[in-house]
Amino acid sequence: MPAVIFKESEVNFVILDPYYGGLWEFGKREIEKFLMINNIIVNNCTNENMEELHNYLESDNLASEVYEFLVSEEIPLTPHYFPKVILDNLYEYDTGIITPPEIVLEVSRKCNYACPWCYISDMTNNDDELSIDDLLERLIKPMISIGAKRWTLSGGEPSVTKEKTMKIAQMINEETVLRWGLQPEIELLTNGYNFSKYAEEYSRNNISAVQFHLSSPYESEEIALRKPGKNVNSYAEVINGIKSANEMGLKTSINMVVGPDNKESVADMIKLANDLKVNWLRVTPVVMSGKAKTNEIFLDFASYTQITNTIANLTQGESAIAKGLDVYFPSIELEDDRPMWCGLGFLDYYVGYNGLIYPCNNLIEDGLLCDKNSICSISATNVWFNSPALKQFRNFRINNVGSECGSCNSRSYCVGNCIARCWQQYGQFDLLKKPANCLLE
Ligand SMILES: C[S@@+](CC[C@H](N)C(=O)[O-])C[C@H]1O[C@@H](n2cnc3c(N)ncnc32)[C@H](O)[C@@H]1O
Ligand code: SF4
Ligand code: SF4
Repeated sequence: MPAVIFKESEVNFVILDPYYGGLWEFGKREIEKFLMINNIIVNNCTNENMEELHNYLESDNLASEVYEFLVSEEIPLTPHYFPKVILDNLYEYDTGIITPPEIVLEVSRKCNYACPWCYISDMTNNDDELSIDDLLERLIKPMISIGAKRWTLSGGEPSVTKEKTMKIAQMINEETVLRWGLQPEIELLTNGYNFSKYAEEYSRNNISAVQFHLSSPYESEEIALRKPGKNVNSYAEVINGIKSANEMGLKTSINMVVGPDNKESVADMIKLANDLKVNWLRVTPVVMSGKAKTNEIFLDFASYTQITNTIANLTQGESAIAKGLDVYFPSIELEDDRPMWCGLGFLDYYVGYNGLIYPCNNLIEDGLLCDKNSICSISATNVWFNSPALKQFRNFRINNVGSECGSCNSRSYCVGNCIARCWQQYGQFDLLKKPANCLLE
């Protein structure tokens, strides 16, 4: 996960790793070196060849000290922004967050499947859909100008509106190259429908990573759960899609949303993901947002514990059958009193098909809008830096977990490190007070 930067004064900066809870104070010269190091890594280095960085560190003592510190503290060096843009504007920013978000863009709400847990409650596009021109002028160009590098194209199902999805990817790519001479990172979230048919075109438009949504390693269970419609085999679409994506050299992952009906299938999903050689598998306990809330789809504590053990057994230890596979599951050991932070307000925001901005994909609710207006009439970058709705999540100096929840060893099950999960379960954005409907009671 990347780190974000806050400016606290002209000479004081903070680097924050929201998921892992790290916070580091940097002075003016140190933050410049941090950005320089990041810039060299982004532009001139690969995992195999770090020569350019070594040359720089040898020529600059302070940079070398800063780098040693970054490595010893495990501060992320994979920015979701173009470091040079931040460096060039370091003294122009107001106080507050200065790094741009990763933009999660809902291409359209239309979808051809009917997952009963989908966080989107209503999949109709009204006639207020953003035009291609608005997307370019009101979102893509402004976000690139503040250094945004990483984009996620989601929906709905982006392949249902394939032409629009391709056009957006093309525009992001062209504008980024034009403005900075560098390539963006674009990830596609898809149910896999027609992916193998379009794979080459996606790749040509610089989509470099694909997350496939698959709910089961068994064909019949997958189809029964997601109701892809007559003559569509949602399982085969994903399997063939992953194979095509791998052939094209794209990064691939599977997201398995786990609820009561597929909780027993996690072990075989790990084996399948391992056989398919995806880069990682995300096992996501269903968040009670959108349709999951209406349909009361929820993962119980016993199943959560069982899944934690299954993942450990299959991926850890010498004899584990999926040793090399990265599996993400929110079962991290949370230290006592650790604040509950995540990407919310720090790393990304969610732009709906109509240009309305929400703090995250699991918080698509009218009352939680970052601004009541669409980006047709307000500035998308101003919303990111200044919206009070986002600023409320950036009080990183104040702990948002009280003593009771702070010492509870089930917090990881209950909310993980996900503020949206907390909101959807308890109707509150913090755990300062133990919720009356605590899941374990
Ligand atoms: C809404 S979908 C849109 C893209 C595409 N149609 C798909 O299914 O991947 C984006 C991602 O959200 C995940 N998702 C949907 N509803 C969810 C929920 N209630 N809890 C957790 N993840 C959810 C899906 O698994 C999918 O990976
Ligand atoms: S999760 Fe994706 S595939 Fe399923 S209904 Fe929602 S948008 Fe469609
Ligand atoms: S709400 Fe209950 S289960 Fe969740 S962290 Fe607090 S005490 Fe633990």
